Amino acid sequence: MPLMNSADKIKHWDDMYLMPLDNIPWEIPQPPKELVELIDSRKTTGGRALDIACGTGNYSFYLAQHGFEVIGVDFSERAIDIANKHNEATKLPVHFLVGDITNIKQLLSDTDFDFILDYSILHHLEPSVTKDYARQCASLLKKGGKLLLVCYSDKDEFANGNKSATGKYGNTMYYRTAHEIREAYSDLIEISYKETRLGKRLQHFAHCFLFEKV
Ligand SMILES: C[S@@+](CC[C@H](N)C(=O)[O-])C[C@H]1O[C@@H](n2cnc3c(N)ncnc32)[C@H](O)[C@@H]1O
Repeated sequence: MPLMNSADKIKHWDDMYLMPLDNIPWEIPQPPKELVELIDSRKTTGGRALDIACGTGNYSFYLAQHGFEVIGVDFSERAIDIANKHNEATKLPVHFLVGDITNIKQLLSDTDFDFILDYSILHHLEPSVTKDYARQCASLLKKGGKLLLVCYSDKDEFANGNKSATGKYGNTMYYRTAHEIREAYSDLIEISYKETRLGKRLQHFAHCFLFEKV
């Protein structure tokens, strides 16, 4: 399967957001337990948060309800439209941007985030961009800032032992080992790691890392 170019990728995701939200496989309004546990633990307690590849902004809103001023970024204009419409009603301190997260530093005029949420996105990025993407994320955190990363694991049954696989909707997913992720995010300190599950039916075996900038 040839790699999609950037325009095809955006179209792919935009087309997915034409589906009723209930039918979108990753559209889960309730925040993931890893995020709830982190907020409840008070290891991160507010300030400026960045929700990377925020989709329709479900977790941006959750963060805004828990003391953060949030920027959510996604390259699907349709997803961001849905997020903005939702925000008109809530009036929470959330600002959404359309843009490609592989160039996230160029998109943002401010750095110094207290928290970055990187939920269910890394497995959609090609391995060739991993290190640069991770470095950009690390550089956006202030000292003491945390990054929560949850992505598909190489142990996911769907990977079937392969490094990549084509999903039901035609996009490619990439299955990284915990070691590969540690190497890519080596600008940050690893606070914790656990294996978890991701998806509407918790059907995907996943990595969950909490990193900190020191
Ligand atoms: C599986 S969804 C996860 C959305 C959200 N984080 C959540 O968990 O609900 C992946 C999201 O990444 C976005 N995306 C994929 N590649 C991207 C890129 N290079 N730049 C910006 N957004 C991207 C898609 O548009 C989609 O909204």
